[in-house]
Amino acid sequence: MSDHGVIESHPTEGETFPPNPEFVAQANVSDPAVYWKAAENPEAFWAEQARELHWTKPFTQDLDWSNPPFATWFADGELNVSYNCLDRHVIAGNGDRVAIHFEGEPGDRTSYTYAELLHEVKRAANLLTSLGVTRGDRVAIYMPMIPETAIAMLATARLGATHSVVFGGFSAESLRSRIDDAEAKLVITADGGWRKGRVSSLKPTVDAALELHPGEAHSVEHVLVVRRTENEIAFHEGRDLWWHEEIVRMDAEHTAEGFPAENPLFILYTSGTTGKPKGILHTSGGYLTQVSYTHKNLFDLKPESDVYWCTADVGWITGHSYVVYGPLANGATQVMYEGTPDTPDWGRWWEIIERYGVTIFYTAPTAIRACMKVGRQEVEKYDLSSLRLLGSVGEPINPEAWIWYRDVVGSGRCPIVDTWWQTETGAIMISALPGLTRLKPGSAQVPVPGITVSVVDDQGNRVDRTQGGLLTIQRPWPSMARTIWGDPERFVDTYWSTHGVNSYFAGDGARVDDDGDLWLLGRVDDVMNISGHRLSTAEIESALVDHTSVAEAAVVGAHDDTTGQAVVAFVILKSQQTEVTPESAEDVLKKHVAGHIGAIARPRQIFVVPELPKTRSGKIMRRLLKDAAEGREIGDVTTLADTVVMSTISERVRAELSSKA
Ligand code: PRX
Repeated sequence: MSDHGVIESHPTEGETFPPNPEFVAQANVSDPAVYWKAAENPEAFWAEQARELHWTKPFTQDLDWSNPPFATWFADGELNVSYNCLDRHVIAGNGDRVAIHFEGEPGDRTSYTYAELLHEVKRAANLLTSLGVTRGDRVAIYMPMIPETAIAMLATARLGATHSVVFGGFSAESLRSRIDDAEAKLVITADGGWRKGRVSSLKPTVDAALELHPGEAHSVEHVLVVRRTENEIAFHEGRDLWWHEEIVRMDAEHTAEGFPAENPLFILYTSGTTGKPKGILHTSGGYLTQVSYTHKNLFDLKPESDVYWCTADVGWITGHSYVVYGPLANGATQVMYEGTPDTPDWGRWWEIIERYGVTIFYTAPTAIRACMKVGRQEVEKYDLSSLRLLGSVGEPINPEAWIWYRDVVGSGRCPIVDTWWQTETGAIMISALPGLTRLKPGSAQVPVPGITVSVVDDQGNRVDRTQGGLLTIQRPWPSMARTIWGDPERFVDTYWSTHGVNSYFAGDGARVDDDGDLWLLGRVDDVMNISGHRLSTAEIESALVDHTSVAEAAVVGAHDDTTGQAVVAFVILKSQQTEVTPESAEDVLKKHVAGHIGAIARPRQIFVVPELPKTRSGKIMRRLLKDAAEGREIGDVTTLADTVVMSTISERVRAELSSKA
């Protein structure tokens, strides 16, 4: 990036794909007037979408922006999120429609109709009530990808309580910090889940989390355990309960009460530029409005006939918005799969698409690139003719992967919607509309109707077309984060202070091309994107220096052909320590980071170096480390306090890379 926030960018434009007339003829949105109608009065547009939901008390207000950046939407209305996702479909006569086709990794299969899912959620709501959960309480959910996870979320929402789902790959320490920050009263977990042919245990991590920091009281009263595997687990008398033993005792009647639109629905922790994850808070009415609108229209959902599948884990925002709330609010039939795409072999996903006749498939570029590496023969073994639309999310999709996705998975027939959004935005913000947009591989294309974005320099001035700048969102939107849990100041500082309180700073670079299409250029802050998951350099650095042998650490996200970026760390070992040698350090510290944060944070490489490149004021110059990690010529070193440092580091990196090659 230049000194003014203008980013160098090199366009690579190629073939574009207009919508196919057959698709247009049946599309949910095929009139381009939707854009100008929404732009004329975005609040009225979103209010119209919100009226598609069931309100126990209709709203009369839309946006209230009198205390920016703390928005409220539809604040005087009341609704029940769980009722909107379940009861109303059953009442409308669609109780027999399948809501979830579940496939476990070992091959076990179950399906839940909307009536069955409602039955389970009602009993689970009664179970949570019996454990003392009421409106406003926080419930931590640490689960594999199984139907009970969605049931637990919907039961929590049904009571007006707030869930905090923690991805099952996170460590005991990460789980504990999230439990403490939200002061969760109940933890819902499973004995384990299936991953890559083995049981990945969960309950033992919950036990370990609650045993950390002895002497410090925690907020958890009960741990509710779903039995998913045959894993032997310890039980704490009085605290732990088996889900299956309790649920059968519960009444299957439960009336969903309406709660105010701004009632907190969930907290989801995400990495920021400092070590401490941020608890992003989403509320009910506005969130559900935008996730259901975008799910229905960007994916062109026909709930009566489509079979939708989003491969995201419920531990991330995509799983919240486009596995649980969006599809269920729209009465969709969807597939939920527990495991990884390569178990027992790389045909697994395509076999699932064939088995259930999946029509809409939503996944991440990193997965597409991994499949590309394995080769098209794995895909071509299966009949994927049911597919009619493909989606992408999590990171920029390179045009080569886009074309492969279109040709090999979609047989050249299916439109691809590349959807840009974030944990903080709650729902998709930039995407094609498949019945309207001329698709351009690699571009996320245009803001969703009712959303206004602007690419600006760091003074907030709009940059010229084709120049790179900072992506900002210029008007409040219904599914926007309402605050950072327990830290409203950090909410203001992180997102609303770069260009003032009326401009949301997304942390991404972007460029608008001559046709008005947006190209995302990656993060401009110290956040990395590994396989579409956000990790903070600061969080990994603090895990590294927590090791007794490490004096200093610097972490960068270096380009990786499959995962987009990979974690590369540079560490200085303490001179007096004897625990690790420069040779053993890499293995020991990789394990240490994985144990501290979770396996997703395990560095790809760790280099032991004698010094780190710092400016005269002591700031580490990660840009130079990134150059070294990516094997590039080192950039401008004139601001370094010691200019020899970088040549020592790059020699070391080169030597290690060539010794491993
Ligand atoms: O850098 C952008 C990237 O992922 C970040 C948001 O990460 P997270 O909150 O974990 O949510 C991921 C799933 C919505 C963004 O700041 N990102 C997400 N989608 C895209 C993307 N970058 C480019 N193109 C996308 N479609």
